[in-house]
Amino acid sequence: MTHAEQTSSWHPGSWRARPVAQPIAYPDAGALAAAETHLSHLPPLVTSWEIERLRTEIAQAQEGKRFILQGGDCAETLAECRAELIANKLKILLQMSLVLVHGLKKPVTRVGRFAGQYAKPRSSATETRAAAGGGTPVTLPSYYGDLINRAPFTPEARTPDPWLMVKGYEHAAVTLNFIRSLVDGGFADLHHPEYWDLSFFTHASLSPDLRAQYQRMTTNLADGLRFMEALGERTVDDLTRVEFFTSHEGLNLHYESAQTRRVPRREGWYNLTTHMPWIGERTRDAGGAHVEFFRGVRNPIGVKIGPRASPDELRRLCDILNPGDEPGRLVFITRMGAPNVEGALPALLRAAGGRRVLWMCDPMHGNGMTTARGVKTRSFDAILRELRAVCMVCAGEGVPLGGVHFELTGDDVTECVGGAAGITEDDLPARYSSLCDPRLNYQQALEMAFLLAHELSPA
Ligand code: PEP
Ligand code: CO
Repeated sequence: MTHAEQTSSWHPGSWRARPVAQPIAYPDAGALAAAETHLSHLPPLVTSWEIERLRTEIAQAQEGKRFILQGGDCAETLAECRAELIANKLKILLQMSLVLVHGLKKPVTRVGRFAGQYAKPRSSATETRAAAGGGTPVTLPSYYGDLINRAPFTPEARTPDPWLMVKGYEHAAVTLNFIRSLVDGGFADLHHPEYWDLSFFTHASLSPDLRAQYQRMTTNLADGLRFMEALGERTVDDLTRVEFFTSHEGLNLHYESAQTRRVPRREGWYNLTTHMPWIGERTRDAGGAHVEFFRGVRNPIGVKIGPRASPDELRRLCDILNPGDEPGRLVFITRMGAPNVEGALPALLRAAGGRRVLWMCDPMHGNGMTTARGVKTRSFDAILRELRAVCMVCAGEGVPLGGVHFELTGDDVTECVGGAAGITEDDLPARYSSLCDPRLNYQQALEMAFLLAHELSPA
């Protein structure tokens, strides 16, 4: 991109003049425009002051004073917008964050991959399946997530439908409404972790060891909090205020731009579908539509960074997405694959040296594999190896690792192999429900939090 293009005026539709990676072939332009207009008149899902608060917290994490825990489904679905699934996701994020607060001795901000994580990039635009009965194979558009089309392998389901954006918005709204009510109702009072972990902890499959470790830690933590409060310690508020921010991949720019507005008494434009959108590994081209769109909004922006990213690309992303080097604005989420970290990460950390960037580690997306039986999985060990390698490289370069990004669920699924529960390839079919990437189940996620806390513990 030339300097002139980079500084040319931005508006919520300026991305339309740029090449769109992962384009969506809506067949009916009139219906698309109508759905966009409809969305643009609906109230925002989040507010600018929440977004600004998250920016402040990310700025603190950039200085090593806070840690960000981001996690949730690979893809939310409309069908799984259910109370118990949402509550379980909050519980596991809370429990992991508590483990991290305890181990890292600093406040932790929770950012869910939820209330809008409905759009998925795909490695191929189409999917071909053998026809039943051995006829000619059938090719249809790939499934891009419930914001765009539907999973069943039929032409009707796979045709992008713009009104799914409105459905997605509505489901994000009811998800958020439930989350906000639970939090307001004291669901997550950190003084009483015993209230919100009970049903979860009676679960038979949780290993006694992990249960004991967790219970010891929560008792210590609750005692510590009471002690600090008795001393009038002001930071307690900060440690115990439980809040959830939302995030999703900003893949469908029709959706993102329809909810992007100016707000009274503030400068600039806000994307009010979510607190922290991120740009995926497949859409982060500096000259492309996604980078163009997100450069113009005030939200903190994540960018996924894979092993083939070059130091130059990172510098350009910093220049375009954060020309003023503002704190709390830019988050690089690395997803290298465990064997690539040591080779690729140091040069990238140095490339962004001197810029205000929050480095987060996504140890999931570079570690996918397919079993001999064709099941997509990830191994707990590879995920942990990537986390450890990133911790080591960051420490060696003197850059704080400011957060982690997981695909996880609060449920007892069998999608990733390994962990103390010893899930094997043979166990995978038992409870595999992800339509997209495999997630850590609640026990694997909690165990990962303990291991990470140990890795990053200051003492
Ligand atoms: C994701 O986070 O689900 C994803 C697709 O990640 P990436 O862009 O890093 O591949
Ligand atoms: Co994923």
